[in-house]
Order: sequence, then structure tokens, then C-alpha cells
Amino acid sequence: MDSPTIPLISRRDALIAGAATATAAAVSSSAPAEAAAPKAAATPGPRAKLSLNVNGQVHALDLDTRTTLLDALREHLHLAGTKKGCDHGQCGACTVILDGRRINSCLTLAVMHDGAQVTTIEGLGTPQNMHPLQAAFVKHDGYQCGYCTPGQICSAVAVLDEIKRGVPSHVSADLTAPPLLSAEELRERMSGNICRCGAYSNIVDAITEVAGSRT
Ligand code: FES
Ligand code: FES
Repeated sequence: MDSPTIPLISRRDALIAGAATATAAAVSSSAPAEAAAPKAAATPGPRAKLSLNVNGQVHALDLDTRTTLLDALREHLHLAGTKKGCDHGQCGACTVILDGRRINSCLTLAVMHDGAQVTTIEGLGTPQNMHPLQAAFVKHDGYQCGYCTPGQICSAVAVLDEIKRGVPSHVSADLTAPPLLSAEELRERMSGNICRCGAYSNIVDAITEVAGSRT
């Protein structure tokens, strides 16, 4: 009985064929997503006048009511220190301090905050006169690419204020006792700020130093 014919193919040929197949699959699977991607809204929306006090300076704005606080800061006031990472409330890169509380500025509309006080990374310090947390991030290498850093620092400023005010977190064992300045507390409170470079342990070191429990 004849043995079945087995086609001869080298390992190199197999790898090339596999890579080509994977590329073709990737192209074909991404094509519908691209075709279905929503086009930017071209129709102008209703507008509203509002005023924002940003870093101590009052700004009068006339905005499309769909403008997020993040876009108002970056595109209209040209304060590009606040970063747009996901634009979906998932990364924390856009964190600013609004009326004393941290907020994801991509998840809120500017018109909702007429008269509010906003602090961005530009309002915390300057390269010549850094906020203690900015200096601590430099000292402890609390960043690599730096994209998440403005959000991390704004969030950390608000975290220390929350702890000072006795606001408990999800990991606080006793909701009525003053919160501890533990690494566990800091990690939980900073968990909404994602760092793709993985600088987390250095970020905790920087915040811990400023909090005063370790130098
Ligand atoms: Fe706002 Fe990611 S850009 S949470
Ligand atoms: Fe690069 Fe955090 S330092 S994402």
C-alpha cells in the first residue's frame, strides 16, 4: 500500500506562512472596526458661557456644551499638562483638583462647573519652585515616560488631603478611626491612576515621604 504523500516544507517556510496568515487575519479583523468607527460630530452643538478659575486665574469661556473639562483645559485654555490617556475614565491621566476634590476631567462637562476652582499640574508648582510632591517624584524616580505623572501628582495631592480630613477608603479597617498612612492605603487610594511604565513602588515612596511617615 502506498504511503500518503507528505509535502516537504522547511521550518523557515512554515514560519513565513504563519506570519503572513496572522497579518492577513489582523488586517481583515481590523477593517470592519475602522469602517464602523464613528466620524467626529460635525454639527455644532448648543453653546454656553461659563467661567472657570484655573490655577488662580479666572477664564471666561464660550463652549460647545459637549466640551469636557479636559478638552476645555487642553484645547481652549492651552494647559496641556493635564493628559488625555483613555478619555473614558479608566486611566486617571486627566486627574485635576476641582473645588478641592480630585476628578477625572475627561468624564465631566465643563458647563457643569461654572464658577469652579480648578487646579492642574501647572498650578501646583514650576520647575524652579516645585510642589513637594513634584520634588519627591523626581527624587524617587516616580515616573519613566511621564505621561501619567501630572494625573498621579494631582491625585496624590488630593489623597493626602483626604487622609488629613479622615476620609476612609475601601481598605480602611475602621471607618471611624483616622486613616493610616500605610502603603496599602496609598495603593488603594491611587488605584485609579494607571502607570503603564509600572513606576508604582517609587510613586508610593514619593507620596509616603511627603506624607511624613518616612524620609
Ligand atoms: Fe480621563 Fe483616562 S483620560 S481617565
Ligand atoms: Fe509612563 Fe507612568 S511614567 S505611564
